[in-house]
Amino acid sequence: MTAQLNPRGDVAVLVPAAGAGVRLGPGGPKALRRIGGEPLLVHAVRRIAAAPSVHTVVVAAPPGDADAVRDLLAPVAELTVVAVVAGGATRQESVAAALAAVPAGPEIVLVHDAARALTPTALVESVAEAVRGGAEAVVPVLPVVDTVKEVSAAGLVLGTVDRSALRAVQTPQGFRRSVLAAAHAAAVDPLTDDAGLVEKQGVPVTCVPGSEYALKITRPFDLALAEYLLTSTRYDGEADDGPR
Ligand code: CTP
Ligand code: MG
Repeated sequence: MTAQLNPRGDVAVLVPAAGAGVRLGPGGPKALRRIGGEPLLVHAVRRIAAAPSVHTVVVAAPPGDADAVRDLLAPVAELTVVAVVAGGATRQESVAAALAAVPAGPEIVLVHDAARALTPTALVESVAEAVRGGAEAVVPVLPVVDTVKEVSAAGLVLGTVDRSALRAVQTPQGFRRSVLAAAHAAAVDPLTDDAGLVEKQGVPVTCVPGSEYALKITRPFDLALAEYLLTSTRYDGEADDGPR
């Protein structure tokens, strides 16, 4: 069982980074767009690699950019093993390609979007720790702050959803390796997250507190916000929930 796993170096982190970034607008693959002068992917992987639990990082790179991504990540590869594979046409295919490249050893696998470039190292550790503590699948969540309504295709409000039971789900999502492998092997329809595949297998998914810094950079506003957070003097780089 997971409780017997080595508490250090027992985690592989898969980083799907092969998306086009359509919602961000023109400018190349999103993972290679820059904030603070560096690609989002480099920010993300550096924060992952700083987590003591991490044994290996496997990046699913944009098609055609695998060699460039290897070069970009060379400095980070001094901290931990970094492998780069070609991503697929969907996020799920990219995750599956990265999962297939995980070496023998790590029994905890995290999946983390490159687009969540400012995710604190502490969140990577807390998700890994929850799996190590016995959870089969773990997601970081935040409360939903807006009122949420169900709306018809014609734009009419059908009803107001009780938001007290709703959570916005982030990454990294953590799994016992065998659980994630079985869920991907059984996957039929593409889903936007890996916990969704695991849920379909009837496996319980445990929530841990997420972080606002783990925002998914999706639209131009998010890129501007991330740039601000990175350069803001309000954070000294030491706080557990800071962007680091
Ligand atoms: N991703 C991937 N392979 C794909 C599609 C997405 O590895 N074929 C990755 C993205 O690079 C990103 C993460 O999955 O790190 C979350 O996806 P999303 O935020 O939707 O990124 P994009 O698909 O690049 O953006 P968009 O949907 O706006 O094109
Ligand atoms: Mg997408």
